[in-house]
Amino acid sequence: MGKLSFFSVLSILSLSITLSTVTPPKQAAALPLSTSSRWIVDENGKRVKLACVNWVSHLEVVVAEGLSKQPMDEIAKKIVSMGFNCVRLTWPIFLVTNDTYASLTVRQSFQGFGLLESISGIQANNPSIIDLPLIKAYQAVVSSLGVHNVMVILDNHISKPGWCCSNFDGNGFFGDTYFNPDQWIKGLTQMATIFNGVPNVVGMSLRNELRGQKQNVNDWYRYMEKGAEAVHSANPDILVILSGLNYDKDLSFLLNRPVNLTFSGKIVVEVHWYAFSDGQAWKNGNSNQVCGRVVSNMMRVSGFLLVQGWPLFVSEFGVDQRGTNVNDNRYLGCFLGVAAELDLDWALWTLAGSYYLREGVIGSNEFYGVLNWNWCDIRNSSFLQQISALQSPFQGPGLSDTNLHKVIFHPSTGLCVQRKSMIEPLRLGPCNDSDAWRYTPQKTLSIKGTYFCLQADELGKPAKLGVICTDSNSKWDIISDSKMHLSSKIANGTAICLDVDSNNTIVINTCKCLSRDNNCDPGSQWFKLVNSTRSSTMAKPTIRMSSILDLEPPVMDLLWKF
Ligand SMILES: *[C@@H]1O[C@H](CO)[C@@H](O)[C@H](O)[C@H]1NC(C)=O
Ligand SMILES: *[C@@H]1O[C@H](CO)[C@@H](O)[C@H](O)[C@H]1NC(C)=O
Ligand SMILES: *[C@@H]1O[C@H](CO)[C@@H](O)[C@H](O)[C@H]1NC(C)=O
Repeated sequence: MGKLSFFSVLSILSLSITLSTVTPPKQAAALPLSTSSRWIVDENGKRVKLACVNWVSHLEVVVAEGLSKQPMDEIAKKIVSMGFNCVRLTWPIFLVTNDTYASLTVRQSFQGFGLLESISGIQANNPSIIDLPLIKAYQAVVSSLGVHNVMVILDNHISKPGWCCSNFDGNGFFGDTYFNPDQWIKGLTQMATIFNGVPNVVGMSLRNELRGQKQNVNDWYRYMEKGAEAVHSANPDILVILSGLNYDKDLSFLLNRPVNLTFSGKIVVEVHWYAFSDGQAWKNGNSNQVCGRVVSNMMRVSGFLLVQGWPLFVSEFGVDQRGTNVNDNRYLGCFLGVAAELDLDWALWTLAGSYYLREGVIGSNEFYGVLNWNWCDIRNSSFLQQISALQSPFQGPGLSDTNLHKVIFHPSTGLCVQRKSMIEPLRLGPCNDSDAWRYTPQKTLSIKGTYFCLQADELGKPAKLGVICTDSNSKWDIISDSKMHLSSKIANGTAICLDVDSNNTIVINTCKCLSRDNNCDPGSQWFKLVNSTRSSTMAKPTIRMSSILDLEPPVMDLLWKF
């Protein structure tokens, strides 16, 4: 009962803690955007993280996909409800440079391919665009997204409308059959001009996935600099996004030769990163070893740009959301770990549940799409959960930087290690509610502002929190080529790894498939310590009696005196 005297102290403490914790509502960014070293920031210098989804509008009919299935306003709402703040909306150069497309209406474009069902679908769901010229329909989509505060990046995906990309489609590099550089500049200029003054259009990607026989570094500088200047002079408000060679995987040439432009503060660099970027390496190799190799290569050919002070926008990544593609599944955990650690800007491939017409197939299903075939339901909510932790910034200019800590991110669930109370075992929970962890030079993982550290007690049992943090069972090494296993030693000296069981409880297990073994999946043991300044559980207003040991050490000392 003597403990009751703590209550009065606690109520004073909790009052002072309450004052500093208000979860801000999701706000639209103060536009236009610009860059500040590697960050994209708003007018007030506050970080804006691009958490985009790709929306295809560059196929043969040149109409944003899905409009025969759902009203565009519903699609925009769905994009917001799924946690995205931005769309990378693709378009072909011919949309604005080729007279054939300039005069075509939506109805005529579908009629040209005999897509009568799509016409009646558009008539039912988006009647206002059916007789608009293609560019007006595109503008209508952009403005519908604007109504819902969704930012748009206009992505020049191809020249001649159609599915992209191959080395032989005539759209790969400057000088290819359909890729006339002058026409390209003209198209970019026109698009930048049309959307000048449209506030939710925040950027333009100059060209998707340069590739093919003709690609070379000198022409890259020659034309990309021209294209960037053209866009900037037609519309100085928007970000100008430069993509690399070899299907936008390679930006290594920028290491020693920066772009030479008349303007600054608006340049973003984009990169694409899929499982198949490395063929079947994930499926055929050991996940830790492949992850280690692929990530160090990525840092060499594009990731270095962050260090040089350029925002790096992963404008395409994605997986088959049926979960049946082993290559994709193994890659995803590694990708999400890096994307969280580097706190990258990104755009998921893709929104589409299905296409009007893709590669000759009418109504083809898109298994990489977040929406299902009908553009109505979410294809796979556990996938969406997995990426949701990355939809808001972990850190950056203008965000609270007094609260720097680590979260222990678990990519295969998209959750973070969290302590509900002192009496329950550690579990996975939403990263927004994560405890604030500290990874000390002694390699202990402690909860910031407390005496508690993570401990490995017994194989097959939950991980514990303890206050004696000097033993080897409190020391955590980051091991394996992927650097995603957290390993410690239990009392008898056996090395173990942090793991997650089927109830999302954090447990201690034997380390899985650290190397060589190509058949097993280490995913449940993959964690990433991510720097974060998001508000954390420590700063939450409620202090439970059971977690009295949570208080800051100086406060603890004070309490002991009572
Ligand atoms: C205009 O588009 C048509 C159809 O895609 C194409 O065949 C033609 O070559 C284009 N014209 C020019 C000048 O690019
Ligand atoms: C950069 O471009 C300007 C204007 O086109 C030119 O005068 C200058 O020589 C260029 N600098 C480099 C380093 O290429
Ligand atoms: C969603 O993805 C998970 C993980 O890859 C997979 O196991 C599951 O079967 C998928 N669900 C659906 C409905 O496709």
